[in-house]
Amino acid sequence: MIPKETVDKIIDAARVEDVVGDFVTLKKRGTNLLGLCPFHGEKSPSFTVSSVKGIYKCFGCGKAGNSVNFIMDHLQLSYPEALRWLAKKYSIEIVEREITPEEKERQTERDSLLIVMQFAQRYFTDKMLNSDEGRSIGLGYFQERGLRDDIIEKFCLGYSLEARRAFSEDAVKASYLPKYLVKTGMSILSNNHVAGTEITGIDIFDRYAGRIMFPIHDDGGRVVAFGGRTLSSDKKIAKYINSPETDIYNKSKILYGLWYGKKAIQKSELCYLVEGYMDVIAMHQAGVENVVASSGTSLTVEQIKSIHRFTKNIVVLYDGDDAGQKASNRAIPLLLEEGMNVKLLMFPDNDDPDSFSRKVTVDEFQKYIVENAEDFLMFKAKKVTGETKNDPIKRAGVIKDIVASIALIPDNIIRSVYVKDCANVMEMEESILQMEVNKIRRKAAPKTNTSDTSQQYSETPLPENYDDLLTPTQPEKETLNFDAEEKELLRIIIMYGNILITISGINPDDPDVESTLAQYIIEDLKNDGIHLENPIHQAVLNEYTNEINKGHLPNLQHFSMSQDPIISSFVINHVLNNYELSHKWENFGVYVSSEISSIKKASQHLLFSLKEKKLNHYISQKQELLKTAEPEAIHGILNEILHLTTLKSRVNKLLGRIVVK
Ligand code: CTP
Ligand code: MN
Repeated sequence: MIPKETVDKIIDAARVEDVVGDFVTLKKRGTNLLGLCPFHGEKSPSFTVSSVKGIYKCFGCGKAGNSVNFIMDHLQLSYPEALRWLAKKYSIEIVEREITPEEKERQTERDSLLIVMQFAQRYFTDKMLNSDEGRSIGLGYFQERGLRDDIIEKFCLGYSLEARRAFSEDAVKASYLPKYLVKTGMSILSNNHVAGTEITGIDIFDRYAGRIMFPIHDDGGRVVAFGGRTLSSDKKIAKYINSPETDIYNKSKILYGLWYGKKAIQKSELCYLVEGYMDVIAMHQAGVENVVASSGTSLTVEQIKSIHRFTKNIVVLYDGDDAGQKASNRAIPLLLEEGMNVKLLMFPDNDDPDSFSRKVTVDEFQKYIVENAEDFLMFKAKKVTGETKNDPIKRAGVIKDIVASIALIPDNIIRSVYVKDCANVMEMEESILQMEVNKIRRKAAPKTNTSDTSQQYSETPLPENYDDLLTPTQPEKETLNFDAEEKELLRIIIMYGNILITISGINPDDPDVESTLAQYIIEDLKNDGIHLENPIHQAVLNEYTNEINKGHLPNLQHFSMSQDPIISSFVINHVLNNYELSHKWENFGVYVSSEISSIKKASQHLLFSLKEKKLNHYISQKQELLKTAEPEAIHGILNEILHLTTLKSRVNKLLGRIVVK
């Protein structure tokens, strides 16, 4: 349990622009910040962050919330886990009480897997540094490859002992459950285990025995997988073994190095894409930190989207060997299609970033990668006038290739610039090139519409005055017909609930009573047995009532910062945003903040018209019931209808009075 004061401290520290900014590059737009939505993957930005209000909202997919919700959603964490993550980020100490066995039981499976991975990482590092075998074989290997101690430590590298069950046994001794060791892929279930029975320590052995270990972090910095490299040069042994896909490791989403590199990627507005773990690490050692590797899979669209959140500029540094060429041939069309600006960088003599970095100084390395990165399409276009110049067939092949690549670029302006530049370099008519590109695009058009899931969201750029559009882009499903009134009532309660009003008694002799507007509305609804139709609305109202019962009058921030994403996102969408737009709500009278004085009358009016509408609804429900009711039930229903009708005429009277006043 995290104490309330600590929670407040964390929420205070976790500025939304700073928290979101760790995962998305945000650019200033008006009073807000704008970036590419990390939740639905888009090519033009519609993800808005308001630092003033402490919230984010995506106009493409509708996700909205505060900084804690963002972490919960993006890193798939529970509320307390998200708070802990933020506390770590802001170096806020949490003094927690011990968790009880029942609480431990409730911990989600995901958490258990993450805890196993954290243990494993520390274990392998410990064995590398503190055992004879680890020092001579594991640490020795890294040192032989020229890695500095600070880099070995930074990447949390480690070594898995040769003994077949060393890790599994020690993990079980440290009370990690064998079933989680298997689920994370750190241990392998032996054939002797009888299916259906509980997995015990003797049923498992190590997946990575005798390998050097590269932990793989997700972009929240948690270890979710490992790559383990053999030290044997036996070609029959797999050079790398990687963690299997698990609940915490989605191979097609994770990029090796993103956790270490995202700050540098944002700052430099550039990302280097390399092939292997060692390449990422060697580049860090050479002072280049804006680098990631797809590692273990060929580059996926999801991985590209993760990079795109930070920058659209990418330099591909794949090996010059066949495998590297093939990999880059696969990756580049995907990158172009995702709207990235793609450059290529080759090293001399078939070197990769790792081997090249060991041959030159840090300065030479940095100079080389800056000076030799070449625009991918220009690189290809030059081939047409260079090596294939005198071979018409080859030349035509390269031109077709270029045309196909240009056709993939989603942005019209960038595409036409490429058409022009490439035509120039290839000494071709621009119009011919353009025509060919158009041909391919026309053919491809319907296909991209169905295959790209991001197309289901609007990709239209935001208008300049988009700040005024802070209402949901798509009308939400209305619940019965009360939605608008219920929302407006909640808005009034949350915005103006603390205003003191005087209520005159029903009889002339009754004394006047002072009450807050919120209490007045809540009591009044309760007295007449009126509940809110939409469960989300009722949840917000309950939250307010609970706070009042605890003796607080919750303010707007209490709701927009709520740990319950349903509540915070409702309030952000319907209260905060409409607050700014209050002049557009003519239907319900005018309550701009300058007119607080009229709020009592206005809210009474709203309350009564909502009641009238509800009573009408309840009455017609009862009347329906009457049609099929058993004879003995009829009397009761009629009485209820009478009661409702009396209430209704009272409400009507009051409503009439208010209107005349
Ligand atoms: N890889 C893999 N499984 C393999 C081989 C390679 O997952 N059997 C992945 C690893 O992520 C590796 C990357 O592909 O880092 C590049 O492979 P390679 O160039 O063969 O390895 P390097 O990382 O360069 O390793 P080293 O320099 O130690 O030979
Ligand atoms: Mn290598």
